[in-house]
Amino acid sequence: MALIEFHGVDKAFGPKAIYTGLNLAIEQGEALTILGGSGVGKSVMLKMLIGLLKPDRGDITFDGKSIIGMKSSELARVRQRIGMVFQGAALFDSLTVRENVAYGLREHFHMNETEISERVDWALSLVGLPGVEAMNPADLSGGMRKRVGLARTIALRPEVLLYDEPTTGLDPINTTRINNVIISLKAALSVTSIVVTHDMKTAFAVSNRLAMVHKGRIVASGTVEEFRNTENPLVHNFVTGQAPEDEDMAALMARSQ
Ligand SMILES: Nc1ncnc2c1ncn2[C@@H]1O[C@H](COP(=O)(O)OP(=O)(O)O)[C@@H](O)[C@H]1O
Ligand SMILES: [Mg+2]
Repeated sequence: MALIEFHGVDKAFGPKAIYTGLNLAIEQGEALTILGGSGVGKSVMLKMLIGLLKPDRGDITFDGKSIIGMKSSELARVRQRIGMVFQGAALFDSLTVRENVAYGLREHFHMNETEISERVDWALSLVGLPGVEAMNPADLSGGMRKRVGLARTIALRPEVLLYDEPTTGLDPINTTRINNVIISLKAALSVTSIVVTHDMKTAFAVSNRLAMVHKGRIVASGTVEEFRNTENPLVHNFVTGQAPEDEDMAALMARSQ
C-alpha cells in the first residue's frame, strides 16, 4: 500500500468538473511532481489531500486510512504529519525570522526555549540561511522569504512535504536555490515530497517521478527520462512549452486516450 492514494476521486465546483475519476498513488519517500496548466486543479488536489476540500466521490487514504469522514481530531493528527508550503505563504512581518520559524513549534509542541532555538537553527541551516534569525522578514529578498517559509514548515519535521508552486515568480537564481533546497531536504529528512508546478526546470530538477493532470485525471506518469523523451503529444507540448490551440488539444487528447 502506498503512503497516499486517491481512488476514483470526483470533485466539482458547481457545474465545473475539476476531477473525474482521479487515481494516484504516492509511495513513501518518493519525490513526485504534479504537472498541469493553470487552473487544472493542482492546488485542489493538495487541499483534498489534507482535508481542506472534500471530494464529491471516491476515497483518499493516508498511511492506509481513509481521510474522508475522519473526525477533526484524527484529521488534525494527519495534518501534523504533512507540511505545506503554499503558494504565496506569508510570513508575519511583525515577528523576527526566529519567531516566524518558531511559530508552529510554540503552537503545537511542548518544547523548551533551548530546544526551540536549536530547531530553528537547524531548519534555517537546511534552507541555506544560517544567521538570519534576528532579521525582520521585510529586510529579506523574495527568495529568502520563501526559504524562511520553508524553514517554518520543516521545523515541524513533517513526514510529507507539499510544495505548491514553490518557484513561481522567482528569478532563475532563486529558482535554482529553492530546487536545491527541495533536493537536499529530501536527502536530509527522507521525506515524501509532492511538488506542484508548471515550471519544467523545477520539475526535472527535483523529481523521481512526474504525473500530469489534464481534464480531471492523471494522463501520464513516469520518470524524468520518460517525460523528456515522451511520445505522448500532450506531455511533449507541456514539457517543451508549446501551446496548441484548443482544437489541436482536443485532437491530442483523443489520440492519447
Ligand atoms: N474553493 C473553491 N471554490 C470554487 N472554485 C474553486 C475553489 N478552489 C478552486 N476552484 C476552482 O477550481 C479550479 C482549479 O483550481 P486550482 O486547483 O487552484 O488550479 P491550479 O491547477 O492552477 O492550482 C479553478 O477553476 C478554480 O477557480
Ligand atoms: Mg494552484
